[in-house]
Amino acid sequence: MRRTMVAGNWKMHGSLQANRELLDALVAAPRPACELAVCVPFPYLAQAQALLDGSGIALGAQDCSMHEQGAYTGEVAAGMLREFGCGHVIVGHSERRGLHGENDAVVAAKAQRALACGLTPIVCVGETLEQREQAQTEAVVGLQLDAVLHLLGAQAEGIVLAYEPVWAIGTGRSASAAQAQQVHAFLRERARHHKIDADALPMLYGGSVKPDNARELFAQPDIDGGLIGGASLKAADFLAIAAAAGSH
Ligand code: PGA
Repeated sequence: MRRTMVAGNWKMHGSLQANRELLDALVAAPRPACELAVCVPFPYLAQAQALLDGSGIALGAQDCSMHEQGAYTGEVAAGMLREFGCGHVIVGHSERRGLHGENDAVVAAKAQRALACGLTPIVCVGETLEQREQAQTEAVVGLQLDAVLHLLGAQAEGIVLAYEPVWAIGTGRSASAAQAQQVHAFLRERARHHKIDADALPMLYGGSVKPDNARELFAQPDIDGGLIGGASLKAADFLAIAAAAGSH
């Protein structure tokens, strides 16, 4: 059976006080029957590490450098994340691709750096609305995945893949369960072509996942959990989504 996982992507949200309230609520709640992770902004790693200590909730970051170390002002190395107890790091989020010009090669290199430092990269792929309307979804996400699989080879079995249609992120308009399943099945097949154990690869769906649509999404055979933005900032919503993932 594949791992199921729900990861929160806080994006650029939070404050010392708000984080404490949110993490205290998550830690106090019964553990769901799935892996739970929170990906927090860099300055809050130490705070989150301390608050999550011994909780069984994993800590993650939202990006890392493709370089090991050096003169890269403003960048954060995967090895640094590891020192703060991170187990995961999101790479290739569409906001990084779109706003910071990260291409497929950069995303693949970041995933490789993360793995080299013992982190699980949560690799995001997804198409824009325009690409979907032009029936390019599979071509786009296929190439995004290929770049990672080519560079990583068999090591790609250590990643978590996240399908996040750009048009569904932060819009309140989730992909339907059928739309998401179709792309997940396509991606799994693509991974199989690269001769990795695709059946064991955890694949998360992300994009406007809420407590009221989580159950149907996670019931799909190729959807193994979610990458949750807005709803991960509310403990009750995040826990309800985790419970939905844990019930499959
Ligand atoms: P959303 O974001 O849940 O707020 O749509 C998901 C993401 O960007 O990872």
